[in-house]
Amino acid sequence: MAQQIPKVLVTEPIPEKNLAYLREHSIIKVGAKGEFQNENNLINAIANYDALLCMLSNPITKKVLEAAHKLKIVANFAVGYNNIDVETAKTLGIKVANTPDVLTEACGDFAMGLLMAVTRRFNEAEQYLREGNFTGWEPLGFLGMELRGKTLGIVGMGRIGQAFAYRARAFGMNIAYHNRSRVSPQIEDSLNAKFVSTIEELAKISDVLSLNCPLTNETHHLVNENLLKLMPTHSILINISRGPVVDEAALAYALQNKIIAGAGIDVFEKEPKVHPDLLKAPNCVLLPHIASATFETREAIGMLASKAIVSVLKGEHDRNIPNLI
Ligand code: GLV
Repeated sequence: MAQQIPKVLVTEPIPEKNLAYLREHSIIKVGAKGEFQNENNLINAIANYDALLCMLSNPITKKVLEAAHKLKIVANFAVGYNNIDVETAKTLGIKVANTPDVLTEACGDFAMGLLMAVTRRFNEAEQYLREGNFTGWEPLGFLGMELRGKTLGIVGMGRIGQAFAYRARAFGMNIAYHNRSRVSPQIEDSLNAKFVSTIEELAKISDVLSLNCPLTNETHHLVNENLLKLMPTHSILINISRGPVVDEAALAYALQNKIIAGAGIDVFEKEPKVHPDLLKAPNCVLLPHIASATFETREAIGMLASKAIVSVLKGEHDRNIPNLI
C-alpha cells in the first residue's frame, strides 16, 4: 500500500518560503488569522493531523492534545512555549519544538529601540507634532533620561537578555543581572555584568529593569506591587518576555502614581487584551508583541519549526534536532 502523505496544520499564515518547504513533504492546511486562538477550534480540527505548527497565541492544552489521535509533533512558532502543555505532550509521546537562537538579534535590537522610545518619548513627541503643536524648538520640550552611566538590570540572562546587554553596553550603560544561575565568567566579563542574587536587590539598583525570562510558575507576577515599590522613582520597566510576568494592574497604578517613571511593554497578561488602566497610564509605550517581527527572523523561525516537523514526520527524530524540548 502506498504510504500516506502526512498532514500538517499550520494555525496562521506564515512566510511563503516556510509553507513551500512543508508542501514538499506534506499536505498542509493553513488556518485563518486568529482561528485557532480558540481552544474548541483546535480540539475539533486536531484529530486529522500528524503535525501541528502553532503560534504562541494558540492554547495547546491537555484537552487539545488528548483530541489529537495521530499527532507526532507540536512545533511552536516562538521561543517561549508557555502556551503548550509540555508535560501532557510528553506523556502522550508527542514531541514539542520551539525556535531558540534565530530571534535573539531581532529581540535585542527591539529591546534597545523600545528603551529609547520610552526614555526619549518618541511616541508622545510624534503625536504632539502630528497634532500640529510643534511651533518651534523648545529648550525644555520632551526631556528624557540619558542612558550613559545608567544601570540596566536584566532579569533572565539568557540569549535575549545577553543580546540586549551587549547593545546597552554600546550606549554606555552598566549591566547588572539576576538569573537562576550565574552565567559563565567569560560572558560576565564580556558584558562587564554584575550578578545580583535577588530580584529585589536588582530592582533597587536598576535605572532600567528589563524582563527577559520565560513565563513559569516562579516568574508569574514577578513584577508586582511590592517589587515596583522597590524600584527608584525615576526608573523604567521593559517587558519583552511574557505578559503575566507583570501584574498589569499594579504596573498601571505605579505609572499613574509616579512610583516608577515609565514602561515599555510588548507583551500582555491576557493577549490580545490590554488592561484598560494600562491604556490610560502615562509614559508607557505599548506595542502588539512584535519584538521578533523582522522579515529575516520570522522566516528563520518558520524554517526551524518546519524542519523539526519534517524530521519528526520522516522518523528522523532520533537524529539530533536541536530545537526539541
Ligand atoms: C515570541 O514572543 C517568542 O517567544 O518567540
